[in-house]
Amino acid sequence: MMMKDKITTRKEIENLDVYIPGKPIEEVQRELGLEKIIKLASNENPYHCSNKAKQAMLEEIHRAGLYPEGMAPALTEKLAHQFNIDRKRILVGNGSDEIIRLLTRSYIRASDEVIMADVTFPRYETNVFIEGGKPIKVPLLHGVHDLEWMFKAITANTRMIFICNPNNPTGTIVSEEELRTFIERVPKHILLIIDEAYYEYVTDKDYLQTVPLLDEYPNLIILRTFSKIYGLASLRIGYGMMHPSMVQELVKVKEPFNTNRFAQAAAIASLEDLDFVETCKRKNEEGRKYLENELEKMGLGYFPSQGNFLMVKINRSGDELFQSLLKQGIIVRSGVPLGYPETIRVSIGTEEENRAFISALKRVMESNHS
Ligand SMILES: Cc1ncc(COP(=O)(O)O)c(C=O)c1O
Repeated sequence: MMMKDKITTRKEIENLDVYIPGKPIEEVQRELGLEKIIKLASNENPYHCSNKAKQAMLEEIHRAGLYPEGMAPALTEKLAHQFNIDRKRILVGNGSDEIIRLLTRSYIRASDEVIMADVTFPRYETNVFIEGGKPIKVPLLHGVHDLEWMFKAITANTRMIFICNPNNPTGTIVSEEELRTFIERVPKHILLIIDEAYYEYVTDKDYLQTVPLLDEYPNLIILRTFSKIYGLASLRIGYGMMHPSMVQELVKVKEPFNTNRFAQAAAIASLEDLDFVETCKRKNEEGRKYLENELEKMGLGYFPSQGNFLMVKINRSGDELFQSLLKQGIIVRSGVPLGYPETIRVSIGTEEENRAFISALKRVMESNHS
């Protein structure tokens, strides 16, 4: 549509890219006419969510016409109890995406610098751009946050630092000692955000427990989500843990009813189903080991992941392999838009899905060779 007098956006928005999520199953079905599609593209939980969460959502149906409580008090209380922290430290958001946006909206001024890894979860950079801030991207070292260099990147203009642990898309973690030292060294006027979206999947013992540090470091913010191991991605619910004064600031900026009834009820019920979480964690680890083993047999490298996904080094264009796998009914994520052009990122699925992925990968690799 032609617009004679173009109405321009703020300059910060003009050059922003639209976020491209993992390709939805429905879209692939429409485009390729395939019946059976396996999606291993968005790090969702292949076992979906706990039956207790489903039941809790059903029970809320009758109250769908009533606005939810904007501060999700029952869920906040439950989380506070679980982590043994003051509930005033917790803010529930429309996914942890929302907490990221609230933080940049509330704290980033034009030209403020925000340090993050290159590559990491892209929403940090986008939200910094929206506010007119300046992302300072520090390359990963063998797929891992380079905390030494990130520390050196701090200037008088640094306002915020993002650490994604485990990192999306590489799945790597930083060592306990390194992160603890980093937290100690970062000046207290800089907001230090540790995104632990995949926290519940971590099995490596060399991983820092950050929640006990909240009291000591008022600039520390921890992000978690119900989208991953709890399997509630479509409900949009996550949370941040931080100093109570920061919660008070973010509340001024958030939408009054940012999380819905179903999400709040399902999240509470999910926290009560420890067996479900344990089972998902165990199966994820089994799946990860299976995939790693098969990839090694095929001579393919990967980053050591502590999440529910693996970034596989394929020595060819991630876009091409993505397209070839798509034709086999498997949706993965090409590493091209993620900043690693010769990789794909694959979420760890059920045993059957993992096997189907490996068979398809073998077929595609072999046919490309002949
Ligand atoms: C590292 C990381 N942080 C945050 C998010 C956003 O999660 P949510 O669904 O809670 O908004 C994701 C989602 O993929 C993620 O990978």
